[in-house]
Amino acid sequence: MHPPSSSNTPRRSPDAAPTGTTLRGARRDAAILVTGAGGEMGHGLLEAFADQRRERAAAGETFPAVIAIDLRELPESHRGLCDEAFTGDVCDEKMLERLLASYEIGAIYHLAALLSTRSEFVPEIAHGVNVGGTLNLLRIAAEEAANNGRSVQFFFPSSIAAYGLPDLATKHAAGPVGEDRFLQPHTMYGCNKIAGENLGNYYGHHYRKLATDRMEHPVDFRSIRFPGIISADTVPSGGTSDYGPEMLHAAARGESYACFVRPDARIPFMTMPEAVAAIRGLMEAPRSGLSRVVYNVQSFAPSAEEFLLEVRRHFPTAETGFEPDLARQSIIDSWPASCDDAAARADWGWSPTYDLASAFDDYLVPRIRARYEA
Ligand code: SER
Repeated sequence: MHPPSSSNTPRRSPDAAPTGTTLRGARRDAAILVTGAGGEMGHGLLEAFADQRRERAAAGETFPAVIAIDLRELPESHRGLCDEAFTGDVCDEKMLERLLASYEIGAIYHLAALLSTRSEFVPEIAHGVNVGGTLNLLRIAAEEAANNGRSVQFFFPSSIAAYGLPDLATKHAAGPVGEDRFLQPHTMYGCNKIAGENLGNYYGHHYRKLATDRMEHPVDFRSIRFPGIISADTVPSGGTSDYGPEMLHAAARGESYACFVRPDARIPFMTMPEAVAAIRGLMEAPRSGLSRVVYNVQSFAPSAEEFLLEVRRHFPTAETGFEPDLARQSIIDSWPASCDDAAARADWGWSPTYDLASAFDDYLVPRIRARYEA
């Protein structure tokens, strides 16, 4: 499952101009580290960094090197977007040490994880990757902070899976759920996300509380609890919110699809560009304006049936049926129908770009048609 690391492929892009520092006796390039870079969100984030680098270069400014880690070799489309790609496991401390020999990490975007459905088949392995990997990366962030004398930014994608509503009646009565309610997840993935949030808070605010040489706030930890995410470019795997994107991509490909939740199943969603914009929005916000470490965000919250109606508006011949899988359905039933994202709006200006109809009209359908009809 976790092959030993690691083949690494230097890909210094021509306009990369990372700044160097002299530490540990050697000059290391300033870098941003992205784990799970080969996943859906990783691709979106690498593209966003490439855009930022171009903007900075146009203004005559430098941008740190972007270093990627993924369990599998990155596809060519991703590799061209980063300066160096390491193939390996986030639990492999030796690979991480090798990476630190060359780079001074100023920010970590820790995206690597096993998603909610896959984790239920191998819960202990999921814990090892999702919590053990997060702990490794937090430790590295704290060490880098101590070595370099400044805190390391850390982004952790948490999830709606952190919630666990006890039953459907409670879900229907709950209304938009705020960040501090119903935190008894029903999945290992949800437990792992809560653990990651709490570890991040610990490394940010309480790390080595009793040590005499402790550093205040070594890790500037920030997290978003994402709803289901839909991308026009990729189809997720191993998640429980996957029925949304699967339904849409199957219709666009002209394939039949059996949706694994009931028509009335409802959770919030957002598009991938909105998710990436939210990450940038939170990470670029001044620390002083943040009242929490973990924020809800969402864009629209259709039932599976409403989602299908939208799919059929664009693909009228879609052959989609409902064949609920009771176990996967029970996971969706334990997640909120809607999340309260007032704190994200107030603290760092979060605002969705799309509602359900405009997400389909302006982003999903044009790009998906271009992709499958090319
Ligand atoms: N999309 C994720 C999943 O379904 C939830 O964060 O596992």
